[in-house]
Amino acid sequence: MSVLRLTKVCKKFNSGNETITILNNISFELLEGESIALVAPSGTGKSTLLHVCATLDTPTSGVIHINNKNTSQLSDNEKSNIRSNYIGFVYQFHNLLPDFTVLENVMIPLLIQGLKKKEVIVKAKNILNRVNLYKKINSMPKYLSGGEQQRVAIARALVSNPKLILADEPTGNLDPYTASHIF
Ligand SMILES: Nc1ncnc2c1ncn2[C@@H]1O[C@H](COP(=O)(O)OP(=O)(O)OP(=O)(O)O)[C@@H](O)[C@H]1O
Ligand SMILES: [Mg+2]
Repeated sequence: MSVLRLTKVCKKFNSGNETITILNNISFELLEGESIALVAPSGTGKSTLLHVCATLDTPTSGVIHINNKNTSQLSDNEKSNIRSNYIGFVYQFHNLLPDFTVLENVMIPLLIQGLKKKEVIVKAKNILNRVNLYKKINSMPKYLSGGEQQRVAIARALVSNPKLILADEPTGNLDPYTASHIF
């Protein structure tokens, strides 16, 4: 079962007068249950590739299939449905909502999916417990350490049990023990 398939994906950016090619003919397929680690130096396009895979950005050319659907043929609404129901995204810079508590941040993906609030609270608390943050559920993100914020972002990406998890340096702020626990 194909979860994600890239075919000859290119991404170019205009920078001043020149066009820079960041992704050059990337093709690969990710099957259900598989994981791929992408290792490359800073500034070479890892985040760009993940954004394109998640339909947060569009490729300059090439095709991305998610769950065997050609994403270039989807409307913005359909793409947003795929992101909400199928993909968990951990941003490199965690992107938590500053005006909501830890618990609320993790509840949001499930509320968007239309689940009942009672059920959402149970699931959000459960995943926060698994990343060892149960005692911080009522904190605001700005009062957490960098690694704690990152674990909230990981909990938010996992809470809906998504088929496809795209994680951009998810354990960069964590000590080796916590990082291996998260994996
Ligand atoms: N919207 C944009 N416009 C112009 N250039 C961009 C844009 N987005 C990214 N780039 C450039 O593309 C290159 C790759 O950026 P990207 O963030 O994908 O790198 P990265 O591999 O994730 O790096 P890091 O390991 O530092 O996070 C960088 O040189 C960046 O400046
Ligand atoms: Mg990056």
